[in-house]
Amino acid sequence: MKAVRFEEYGDVGVLRIEDVPAPEPGPGEVVVRVVTAGTNPGEASIRSGAGKDRFPARFPEGQGSDLAGVLSAVGEGVTGLAVGQPVVGLSDGRNAQAEYALLPADRVVPKPESLDWAAAATLYVAGTTALVMIDVTHPQSGETVAISGAAGGVGAFVTQLAIQTGARVLAVAGEANHERLRAWGAEPIAYGDGLEQRLRDVAPDGIQAFLDTYGGGYVELALRLGVPKDRVETITDFAAAGRLGTVAKGMAALGDPVAGVTELAHLVADGVIEVPIKGRFPLDQVQEAYRAVESRSGLGKIVLDVSAP
Ligand SMILES: NC(=O)c1ccc[n+]([C@@H]2O[C@H](COP(=O)([O-])OP(=O)(O)OC[C@H]3O[C@@H](n4cnc5c(N)ncnc54)[C@H](OP(=O)(O)O)[C@@H]3O)[C@@H](O)[C@H]2O)c1
Repeated sequence: MKAVRFEEYGDVGVLRIEDVPAPEPGPGEVVVRVVTAGTNPGEASIRSGAGKDRFPARFPEGQGSDLAGVLSAVGEGVTGLAVGQPVVGLSDGRNAQAEYALLPADRVVPKPESLDWAAAATLYVAGTTALVMIDVTHPQSGETVAISGAAGGVGAFVTQLAIQTGARVLAVAGEANHERLRAWGAEPIAYGDGLEQRLRDVAPDGIQAFLDTYGGGYVELALRLGVPKDRVETITDFAAAGRLGTVAKGMAALGDPVAGVTELAHLVADGVIEVPIKGRFPLDQVQEAYRAVESRSGLGKIVLDVSAP
């Protein structure tokens, strides 16, 4: 089968499509024929070596945590799952970006029929991270919360989940994304010079929680705006959180990611939450896909199309 591999740290140029043996399921495992695989900025930092202290690569390394596809083989002792069943997969083995992916049977979730294949490959990393951010900051009806990177891969989930709580949501994002943020029920605010004053002007009574998906000074900004430390959450600026005593909980903090993905799959399938897809690339254009991921701009997610549904 074809699979994404890299054999050294580097820029997107180290990513290759290689022919590797297709996996066979052992007891308690399943194989998914991958239809769509997700992309996330964290994979770029594993590949570049920027994240190697926390997440070292084991060369030759594979890539990808998010996938959706159809069960092609079911191992001994697996019950309740059948070959041919459409599923969403949660991989912790960096193997989602391949024609076939081996997973423990308890890391696949039935895919609701109306859940779009591209959206299905965004729910694990970005979606469950957003659930953690909401859990940590617990926005409430009657409160005002601010979200940075509000239209991004994680941000689009966080923004819509925050709106579901009934809170007023100030969505800090590039102007090209404002219309969509407004359609979701958020109040878009442009980033850049004067942001602090714009936030003070629209929320003269204060902001009760700050959810940062972008880094680069938003933790400090939240504290200047008077947001209590335990309701300032970042998923990216760990240094600021450590220095200033704010919260930095990521996807690993979710107790039951399978339940989280199941919940999100139904919210998206039922049209409660939208997953904007800003780019789709065939598997063999994985380098182009990560160039787009690493631009850190735009609305929603980039997905790899691996095979026909
Ligand atoms: N800790 C964890 O468990 C965890 C999990 C997932 C992701 N992450 C991290 O979280 C971060 C976000 O991930 P993602 O997938 O959401 O990334 P993304 O899809 O690239 O989103 C980043 C967003 O930030 C916006 N942006 C650009 N400049 C900005 C600025 N100056 N101020 C505010 N927003 C700005 C971008 O679009 P516009 O400029 O077009 O508005 C884009 O929508 C990454 O660093 C990722 O590694 C951590």
